[in-house]
Amino acid sequence: MTTTYDHIKKHLSNTPGTWLVTGVAGFIGSNLLETLLKLDQKVVGLDNFSTGHQHNLDEVESLVNEEQWKQFAFINGDIRNIDTCRQACQDVDYVLHQAALGSVPRSIEDPITTNENNISGFLNMLVAAKDAEVKRFVYAASSSTYGDHPDLPKIEGNIGNPLSPYAVTKLVNELYTEVFSKTYGFRAIGLRYFNIFGQRQDPNGAYAAVIPKWFAGLIKNEPVFINGDGETSRDFCFIENCVQANIMAATVTDEAATNQVYNVAFGERTSLNELYTLIQERVVGTNPAAKDAAPQYRDFRAGDVRHSLADISKATNLIGYKPEYSVKSGLDKAAEWYLANLK
Ligand SMILES: NC(=O)c1ccc[n+]([C@@H]2O[C@H](COP(=O)([O-])OP(=O)(O)OC[C@H]3O[C@@H](n4cnc5c(N)ncnc54)[C@H](O)[C@@H]3O)[C@@H](O)[C@H]2O)c1
Repeated sequence: MTTTYDHIKKHLSNTPGTWLVTGVAGFIGSNLLETLLKLDQKVVGLDNFSTGHQHNLDEVESLVNEEQWKQFAFINGDIRNIDTCRQACQDVDYVLHQAALGSVPRSIEDPITTNENNISGFLNMLVAAKDAEVKRFVYAASSSTYGDHPDLPKIEGNIGNPLSPYAVTKLVNELYTEVFSKTYGFRAIGLRYFNIFGQRQDPNGAYAAVIPKWFAGLIKNEPVFINGDGETSRDFCFIENCVQANIMAATVTDEAATNQVYNVAFGERTSLNELYTLIQERVVGTNPAAKDAAPQYRDFRAGDVRHSLADISKATNLIGYKPEYSVKSGLDKAAEWYLANLK
């Protein structure tokens, strides 16, 4: 069956546009780069390698053809510098702004650096994109914006109070964008990502996300920790679904769909205990020792919400988002990549 996304991809590959992907050397940014180059788009990428890696860009180079790779221009720079943002936005049609410091615990330990990157850097990008008169500005918002609101599933209009400095920064991004839309007629879309996972998500470092960290632990026979009782749940969403949401948001022509925020998730809740089993099942074939590995339970983590589940009907109805990968099929693909890369 042909989907709207297939149709957009076909249309794009016949009509090259210029895209700016910030945070291009990171997990989500490098996956956006890969898809856009495979669709024969021209891409400008910006990154300062604070949490991103050259090896992510090298991997994308190995996955596209020579002509496609020539369509990529990289700027090694920082969004905290407005001149760099202006340079990056020159002659760009669509901005996919991903550069930020992720991680709730990082923001609790160092709120100032998180603020500088995620709020001052974000504002620089907004100003540069507005002045360059880009067609659309799509940015990485976050499910952390729901904060302490108790309702499940999460609906875009009902948010609570932020529970961490990181969540404050992502909420401020939304507030600034709304004001830019009203004040300057700027056209933007915020995508509230819910626990995105997949190839090239970094398993290393103190602030690594749960899925890559657990793949690494089970593949390398290292301890795997569960914060709390394991019944904490999340709406885990495979990276290809997130890439689709970005492309749909950047190209949607219905004016009513712009100046909005959308949940980007799969729309299903998985507990950490269930997630552990799903990852273990995918590792045992290659590493039989993982069969007997048991997770170690420790304290709940400050700033974490207990449950998270998205209502994705707004994105489905207004931008045509239709996730193609379930949690299980996404984990199959992620496992392939981690097993090949983490031995
Ligand atoms: N991965 C998720 O589940 C998730 C969930 C919600 C929101 N997000 C948001 O999505 C975006 C991408 O996240 P990711 O998971 O790919 O993380 P990542 O750390 O892999 O990627 C972020 C990239 O931005 C770059 N960067 C950071 N600060 C920069 C700066 N000042 N100037 C230039 N580049 C800078 C980093 O070097 C890195 O390459 C972030 O805005 C993050 O807050 C991610």
